[in-house]
Amino acid sequence: MSGSTVYVPADSSAVAVGADAVAEALGSLEDVTVVRTGSRGMLWLEPLVEVETPAGRVGYPNVTPGVVAGLVAEGLLSGVAVGASIGVVDEYPWLARQHRVSFARVGVIAPTDIAAYEEHGGWAGLRRALVMEPAEVVEELAASGLRGRGGAGFPTGIKWRTVLQTSADLKFVCCNLDEGDSGTFADRMLAEGDPFTLIEGMLVAAHAVGAREGYIYCRSEYPAAAATLRRAIDVAYAHGWLGDRIQGSDLSFDLFVRLGAGAYICGEETSMLESLEGRRGEVRAKPPIPAIEGLFGRPTVVNNVLTFAAVPMILADGGAAYAALGSGRSRGTQVFQLAGNVRQGGIVETDFGISLRDLVEDYGGGTVTGRPVRAVQVGGPLGAYLPATDLDVPMDYEALLEVGGMLGHGGVVVWDDTFDAARMARFAMEFCAKESCGKCTPCRIGSQRGVETIDRIIAGTERERNLLLLDDLCTTMTKGSLCAMGGLTPMPVQSAIRHFAEDFDRRTS
Ligand SMILES: Cc1cc2nc3c(=O)[nH]c(=O)nc-3n(C[C@H](O)[C@H](O)[C@H](O)COP(=O)(O)O)c2cc1C
Ligand code: SF4
Repeated sequence: MSGSTVYVPADSSAVAVGADAVAEALGSLEDVTVVRTGSRGMLWLEPLVEVETPAGRVGYPNVTPGVVAGLVAEGLLSGVAVGASIGVVDEYPWLARQHRVSFARVGVIAPTDIAAYEEHGGWAGLRRALVMEPAEVVEELAASGLRGRGGAGFPTGIKWRTVLQTSADLKFVCCNLDEGDSGTFADRMLAEGDPFTLIEGMLVAAHAVGAREGYIYCRSEYPAAAATLRRAIDVAYAHGWLGDRIQGSDLSFDLFVRLGAGAYICGEETSMLESLEGRRGEVRAKPPIPAIEGLFGRPTVVNNVLTFAAVPMILADGGAAYAALGSGRSRGTQVFQLAGNVRQGGIVETDFGISLRDLVEDYGGGTVTGRPVRAVQVGGPLGAYLPATDLDVPMDYEALLEVGGMLGHGGVVVWDDTFDAARMARFAMEFCAKESCGKCTPCRIGSQRGVETIDRIIAGTERERNLLLLDDLCTTMTKGSLCAMGGLTPMPVQSAIRHFAEDFDRRTS
């Protein structure tokens, strides 16, 4: 066998289950070229080795160094169906059914191979943007209907228009890669697997609003993402995609990576800006909004990784093409992240509107334990616990609000029937107490009182009275908190009581 090309993910999720050793074992074979890629997002199959064949890349899941020699002897390098081969990866139903837009190149190309990026459609959006007026780019974004993927779902076009229309000597573009939500990992996988897409999205933003400088705020728990981004930035400078007069245009833009230090609240945009300025991550009162007074007091675009990652396609194919996808006021695709007690966890990018049931039962394949699904938390630690009876909700911003939930960053965490709602409600308050920035009383003190009140309910002490007190406390936190940390913590707590009241009852003495 000679001249085989084999792809092995270098994504942290694959490395965690031995992908580096598998790559080494394959690399030691004669005439084998190993290309390290991101992950396709089928995490239960990692390490997923792919072999180039005339029919496409053939996949071999859960490869360990110990089985490499055997699989090769049986014909792995010719792409024959040995071991548990899943066949041509692009045709594998779990992946083929998805609509990969932002994740189109993740797991396909080597992350910092700038030629491969271009061959796979990279830079087309930026090239088009650069021959448009900034205001036209902003209107293209507005027409796409893109809403921020970090959690709040704010229309990106409106945010960019505000920055464009605010005069200042300096403007910034900042990317929020703090990704603190439980059950989320898409920002990391995009950064590790296709960093140029993020860079391209930020460059389009810079041109649209007139910014010269940008920062990617990356959580320190993501060292591989930070390293890949830094490598990609160096490569982009070397090829004239960052720096002065990018590709001979009027756009000049410098981009830097900064590391956070592990506080959930530093994902909140004003806290993130404080942290970027070198201060303690404490929430700023709004107004002024960051689009008017952001980093170092200058107009600043702050967007999530997935928001920027949607931008290149919007510019390349036009806002109308993106707006044609989705449901209701949720346009385009959403990168869902399946986690928790689920058999097939990973990345599912589809048009908005897919049902939660399709995600959990069809893509997810049900629970790992084989027990019935009892609860699903969508949208991170501040999202509602939805009961199995809500599984038919369409996954879009408004439909989730209607059932008392929220989409957040698209994380979907599944529990089986051992889910204990009272314990999870307590955890929500405890999490808020630990992660509160401490600036406002309803959150700083309220969350601590919340833990104590739930403890009394669990202990069966004056249960009815304490449930009323907890409800009152939740109202105070919702209405009186300065930011969504304290403002949304009641969502998991109250949804747990609403849907799983018996869990708060059964310990009553
Ligand atoms: C407590 C808290 C944590 C947050 N964490 C993140 C985060 O990790 N990543 C993120 O992009 N947005 C996070 N957000 C939302 C940001 O404040 C902000 O809305 C977002 O970065 C704006 O980008 P977008 O419009 O592209 O979503 C958080 C908000 C709150 C209140
Ligand atoms: S709600 Fe909590 S995290 Fe937000 S400003 Fe108040 S104390 Fe800080």
